[in-house]
Amino acid sequence: MKNVLITGASGLIGVQLTQDFKQAGFQITHLGRKANANRIPRVYGWDIDAQKIDHEALHGKQIIVNLAGAPVADKRWTDARKKEIIDSRVKSTELLVRSILALEHKPEVFVAASAVGYYGMVTTEQIFTEDAAPSTDFFGHCCSAWEAALKPLQDAGVRVVILRIGVVLAKSGGALPKLAGPIKAFIGSPLGSGKQWVPWIHLNDLSKLFLYVAQNETIQGIYNAVGSVHTRQAELTQAIGKALGRPVFLPAVPAFVLKLMLGEMAGIVLEGSRVSNQKIKDAGFSFGFEQLDQALEDLLGKK
Ligand SMILES: NC(=O)c1ccc[n+]([C@@H]2O[C@H](COP(=O)([O-])OP(=O)(O)OC[C@H]3O[C@@H](n4cnc5c(N)ncnc54)[C@H](OP(=O)(O)O)[C@@H]3O)[C@@H](O)[C@H]2O)c1
Repeated sequence: MKNVLITGASGLIGVQLTQDFKQAGFQITHLGRKANANRIPRVYGWDIDAQKIDHEALHGKQIIVNLAGAPVADKRWTDARKKEIIDSRVKSTELLVRSILALEHKPEVFVAASAVGYYGMVTTEQIFTEDAAPSTDFFGHCCSAWEAALKPLQDAGVRVVILRIGVVLAKSGGALPKLAGPIKAFIGSPLGSGKQWVPWIHLNDLSKLFLYVAQNETIQGIYNAVGSVHTRQAELTQAIGKALGRPVFLPAVPAFVLKLMLGEMAGIVLEGSRVSNQKIKDAGFSFGFEQLDQALEDLLGKK
């Protein structure tokens, strides 16, 4: 039985991963900001600002999954918040990498979260593949620094897989409940032009993907973790309305209103490009939710 350590495991993706890895027969432990030896799975502690980690957490682990990071869409992007968003990813990764390099027995694989934000908050018709250059905007900079922090681990010969995750669609958490709430209340509408692309992935597919890359020894490097169908924001809004049985009839929320409300952070909802998942499909992964309606029916429909 393989031992897995998951960081940031108390979040949306980590909770699902814990369940799915456990079901697949793995032994799970967590690494979080609040240690708790009595919890199942056990939570080892780390203090990223102080660059301290409970080294026991890393012993005997064959698989490490790194999800930790301050939420990007919770608070306005002041300079201090931007620093927190970057540091919580880059400094945590650096701490993990340094600690792993000091181990006599290193893990077989390190699976790291990154985001399609790497390609930038832009709306173009370009379909981004993994070899595209990072954007120079805040999100692009954050993701490229996050990924670059893994280089010493790759140089040391550890198999590293980086998943550039799109917008995760889930029942309780992430973007979907925020979009579905107003639509349920008959006050939902597209955001901005509605033409921006939303590279989405169903949480179950994402969790399956983490398992797939962790177990498949031939896979390493960067993979986009997004579904197959390219969807515009207005189409997503209409499809949510359809799944909920609610018409969406209001005009779009103007971009300037969102910019006033959210500042620079508005870019994450007002902009978006198409992202290819061909590379992971070519590596043999198949998605359970190929169609948006099918994903939304599963997440929002009355079953
Ligand atoms: N959900 C999405 O749509 C999406 C899309 C693209 C990329 N991602 C990335 O995938 C990762 C996991 O996503 P998620 O949706 O599960 O995120 P989440 O629900 O926000 O959970 C992230 C976890 O990171 C830890 N964390 C929070 N603030 C932190 C800080 N300041 N310093 C260190 N750790 C902190 C927390 O775990 P503890 O309290 O246990 O320490 C938290 O549960 C994130 O890094 C996110 O950027 C998510």
